[in-house]
Amino acid sequence: MLTLTSPEEMFQWRKTLGDKGISIGFVPTMGFLHEGHESLIRKSTQENTHSVVSIFVNPTQFTNSEDFEKYPQDKDGDSSLLRALNVDVLYSPSPSAVYPEGFNTSISAGHIATKLEGKSRPGHFDGVATVVVKLLNAVNPHNAYFGKKDRQQLAVIQQVVRDLNLPVNIIGQDTVRDHDGVALSSRNSRLTDTERQAAAVLPQTLRAMITAFHAGVTSSAQLVTLGLQVLASEPLCNVDYVAIVNPNTMEEVESPTNASVICIAATFGSIRLIDNTEMSNLV
Ligand code: PAJ
Repeated sequence: MLTLTSPEEMFQWRKTLGDKGISIGFVPTMGFLHEGHESLIRKSTQENTHSVVSIFVNPTQFTNSEDFEKYPQDKDGDSSLLRALNVDVLYSPSPSAVYPEGFNTSISAGHIATKLEGKSRPGHFDGVATVVVKLLNAVNPHNAYFGKKDRQQLAVIQQVVRDLNLPVNIIGQDTVRDHDGVALSSRNSRLTDTERQAAAVLPQTLRAMITAFHAGVTSSAQLVTLGLQVLASEPLCNVDYVAIVNPNTMEEVESPTNASVICIAATFGSIRLIDNTEMSNLV
């Protein structure tokens, strides 16, 4: 596996590969890799002749400096996992390679980025959109893989790629969950044991809302009220939002369909977690 650390090195590698008979899969990450990342990487290596994974903890998408400073890292563990998964290139640029002195351009992700996560973390998606476009430009992949775990991020990237005519297919992958249903996340490692146990209330809430929907409750307001009640049963859970949305626009819907998505954000101790699922899915 090659490790490249600047856009110039990536351009060079890309040039030597040429274009004939190859397809490049790309998985952008912030490292501290777990089985959720692994499922995206496996999909990329299955579907492409070459795979690139980036590890870059992007400072501009954090709206809480403590969250950025304490973001977990495991460089050696990540490298051996990527080698075992037959990844061709690890792209791990330094902050100054991504944001050199004088850097002054930002992508505004528009209306879709102002909802839910965007409301709670203003500027977050502009940071995500800008870094993802920079990474896509450096790697120039045919296919890029994103997790549905970050549903709004996936929708924002799809919108940006469409709006800016970026020549890449964006592929969404299902959320990988732990034995108790909690979505895998690098941030889970920062929960205490009791907080980690309490986090199971998130998939329990999704399950309760979906069960009620399939039992005939068709109003979002009623389903959200039920969800808030389940979350309130866990004293360690501080709810940020529960919403039922159209996953393409992130607009809230009054009467959900099977394609609608329930999104939840809540804090356990000082750690903020998000989860979501389609109404058609039993978590
Ligand atoms: P990160 O949180 O490291 O996630 C990298 C990718 O893994 C994202 O597409 C995310 O949705 C996916 N992922 C995380 N947990 C998952 C799970 N349990 N199941 C399936 N996929 C999962 O998301 C980011 O990094 C950054 O915002 C990034 C896109 C790299 C831009 O900085």
